[in-house]
Amino acid sequence: MAKTVTIAIDGPAGAGKSTIARKLAAELGYYYVDTGAIYRTVAYFLDLLGISPKDLDGVSRYIDELTVEIEYDEAGKQHMIMNGMDVTDEIRTPDISQKASLVSAHAVVRDMLLDMQRDVAKKHNVIMDGRDIGTVVLPRATVKIFLTASAEVRAQRRCDEMLAKGQKANLQQVLKDIQQRDHQDMTRAVAPLKQAKDAVKVDTSDLDIDGVVAAIKTIIAGKVKA
Ligand code: DC
Repeated sequence: MAKTVTIAIDGPAGAGKSTIARKLAAELGYYYVDTGAIYRTVAYFLDLLGISPKDLDGVSRYIDELTVEIEYDEAGKQHMIMNGMDVTDEIRTPDISQKASLVSAHAVVRDMLLDMQRDVAKKHNVIMDGRDIGTVVLPRATVKIFLTASAEVRAQRRCDEMLAKGQKANLQQVLKDIQQRDHQDMTRAVAPLKQAKDAVKVDTSDLDIDGVVAAIKTIIAGKVKA
């Protein structure tokens, strides 16, 4: 089998990873894999069982009862399947964001999810976004991008998204949540969020979406021959 092209995009919450990765994947005809959605599915499953994401014993006891699958619909949208049930929409709440961050700190959770992420990348050309894609999941990725922006800019964007969806949003609360998640994701012992040595850093604070997509396409074009 021919070697696949793998593009790793890591960075903190709200840096624009999923918007950018989805656009790039559509333009390049690659699969888009949102790995945060996998951790969110684990958090949602444990939440339904009433297990705290910090409770390592509880997490270890029930994790084997969970089957996580990724499916794609005709439009190319990623769906998360938890024990046969589509939970794609249910996992998108601020509460599950926090719980996913906490549950993702456990090695038992990360180990269980490693092969499924690598398997997709073995079979398809992918743009995969997350926190540890360039450092742990795909250390030999064809291209590695570290996408970042100031916490204030990320919080403002998240608020705008929530308001556009008709949800309530409080900028100070969203900023606090983002800072807490950054701290948890960067300071955990296993696979913390950090820039891979060979990743290109792209700061999106002063760029719009099309500007970021264009910048990353130039980086990819330099590494992948069409
Ligand atoms: O990208 P996201 O906001 O959907 O991710 C939710 C949480 O999942 C994030 O705070 C940390 C965790 N995560 C991770 O630990 N490793 C990844 N590759 C992706 C997400």
